[in-house]
Amino acid sequence: MTEIMIRSERLHKYYEGEVRVHALRGVDISIAKGEMVAMMGPSGCGKTTLLNCLSGLDDISNGKVWIGGKDLNSLSDNKKTELRALNMGFVFQFYNLLPVLTAVENVEMPLLLAGKSKYAKEKAKKALDMVGLSHRYDHRPSALSGGERQRVTIARAIVNEPDIIWADEPTGDLDTETSDMIMDILCKLNKKNGHTMVLVTHEDRVAERAERIIRMESGLIKRNCTKGV
Ligand SMILES: Nc1ncnc2c1ncn2[C@@H]1O[C@H](COP(=O)(O)OP(=O)(O)O)[C@@H](O)[C@H]1O
Ligand SMILES: [Mg+2]
Repeated sequence: MTEIMIRSERLHKYYEGEVRVHALRGVDISIAKGEMVAMMGPSGCGKTTLLNCLSGLDDISNGKVWIGGKDLNSLSDNKKTELRALNMGFVFQFYNLLPVLTAVENVEMPLLLAGKSKYAKEKAKKALDMVGLSHRYDHRPSALSGGERQRVTIARAIVNEPDIIWADEPTGDLDTETSDMIMDILCKLNKKNGHTMVLVTHEDRVAERAERIIRMESGLIKRNCTKGV
């Protein structure tokens, strides 16, 4: 039987502001352990909101989310933070690297924050080796190209050996060739290490690398297609 890693039922999200936005309108989703899924849809349809709600970065308004069978709503904020620190890695479009830290120091950060400082430097170097950056350990982000920066963020995302990697437009800032290289790395990590991978993108070329493409429209999942079906 397939083990489900990420699941939501009737997930709703409202942003309360001057204007109330109903960003997620009842999303049912189920992602298997080890699966690589791409989420597509027009700008503003709720992709980032869904990723933030599923990972527990943002609170949901209604419905349910389970991660590895754990009901997110039953966890305190501290427990959710701990779950993210121990079981999840994040890759965003604009890298979010700390400019004063070297590549190794940036990659070490999640381990230090999770209180796992033993062998942190060695593990950070190993993660950088996996993304082909053995020659850039001591470079600061300003001395790296866009593709190299994104590889540092991928190394940072995998250093904890997380169950899940969330990537929001990871190739959005990169040229086609570099974007292909980043996708090669993500696919390889998914196959080799078995991370469950949820990838938001607006590029067909990127989405086609995933096993399944989920299309969103106006806060809802529109079509759920497995490749070749
Ligand atoms: N912090 C926020 N406060 C209010 N509205 C928001 C906020 N973040 C996103 N939204 C709105 O929610 C909807 C979905 O946004 P988002 O999830 O960022 O879309 P996508 O990632 O698909 O482009 C949009 O209408 C957007 O304007
Ligand atoms: Mg977005």
